Amino acid sequence: MSAALALNFFERNKNCFAIFGGVVSCIIGAKLCLHILKGIRSFFLAPLLKLGVNPKTLGSWAIVTGATDGIGKAYAIALAKKGMNIVLISRTESKLTATAEEIKSIAEVRTKCVSIDFSEGIEIYKSIEDALEGLDIGILVNNVGASYDYPEFFHQLPDGKNMVKKILNINIFSVTYMTSIVLPKMVDKRKGAIVNVGSASCFGFPLLTVYSATKAYVHSFSQNLAAEYSDKGIIIQSLMPGFITTKLSGIKRSSLFVPTPDVYVNCAIESIGNESATYGYWSHSLMMLCLSVIKMMPRSFYLPKYLRAMENQGKMNKERKAAKKQ
Ligand SMILES: NC(=O)c1ccc[n+]([C@@H]2O[C@H](COP(=O)([O-])OP(=O)(O)OC[C@H]3O[C@@H](n4cnc5c(N)ncnc54)[C@H](OP(=O)(O)O)[C@@H]3O)[C@@H](O)[C@H]2O)c1
Repeated sequence: MSAALALNFFERNKNCFAIFGGVVSCIIGAKLCLHILKGIRSFFLAPLLKLGVNPKTLGSWAIVTGATDGIGKAYAIALAKKGMNIVLISRTESKLTATAEEIKSIAEVRTKCVSIDFSEGIEIYKSIEDALEGLDIGILVNNVGASYDYPEFFHQLPDGKNMVKKILNINIFSVTYMTSIVLPKMVDKRKGAIVNVGSASCFGFPLLTVYSATKAYVHSFSQNLAAEYSDKGIIIQSLMPGFITTKLSGIKRSSLFVPTPDVYVNCAIESIGNESATYGYWSHSLMMLCLSVIKMMPRSFYLPKYLRAMENQGKMNKERKAAKKQ
């Protein structure tokens, strides 16, 4: 009876349903077209036509945190190629010296190395401030980041509280404090850019919960600051990469959806001044468009990797116990 009623209702209103369906399809289609056109402009036309801001016009020095590997090193090299002097901030002194030498062999620019461990507390920022004294800072790339060694449930994080503290210090406090160090002078001269390297995982990544949440902070912090300083000549960008072949991701082989740091950065760097929030690379943007339907990564994505890690740990524990017995 109720099915017949529903059918009858549908039959009487089928024109309304058709119009409603047409309007919804048009809106979705228009949104999709807009996304694709924006993507073509950002990821193909902007790098080709050099539509991004010329970083040298913002100041003579660029600061890159986490500058000796992966995305940070690629930014340091790309900015040096654009004629900027580079302040390299990272943990390992020998890697800093090697990267500075590499940069000087590629571009005629000056470099300054600051060896700091961002996992430590607020006290480290005094020495960074001292090192930056007197430099005309045009760009800050807040790149340094830390994640889990393997996907894990929150209550089982190895060295739990300590690990959480380290990740928060590196991913959240470094971005916030470094910004507070450079922003006042940028405001005074009414120019400057800050690129905050977050992650596409900021929209939700179970089994990487703390990491993903810190990147949500980075995105929100950047978006709010971008609005706050939009009329003060300051560019603030939230960069949200997908997977890239680096030590942090543990992925060694590049592919269409996993570019190398150089390929990624050469594209992303051209979006500074054009996009206040971007995935930085066309295939990452496409991937996120598809994933936007499911809102957040399903837990099952990292479950096999978690189980593999547990299996390996089980083996390792057995080996350790056997070695102790001997
Ligand atoms: N790779 C990806 O797939 C991916 C995806 C999304 C977002 N991201 C984000 O991109 C950023 C860069 O990641 P990456 O993959 O390029 O990392 P990476 O290749 O592992 O490089 C990390 C850099 O940071 C430095 N560093 C690490 N811990 C540090 C600490 N406690 N204090 C000071 N420096 C430290 C390292 O120098 P030392 O070796 O001397 O410590 C190195 O120069 C991160 O914010 C990450 O969250 C990466």
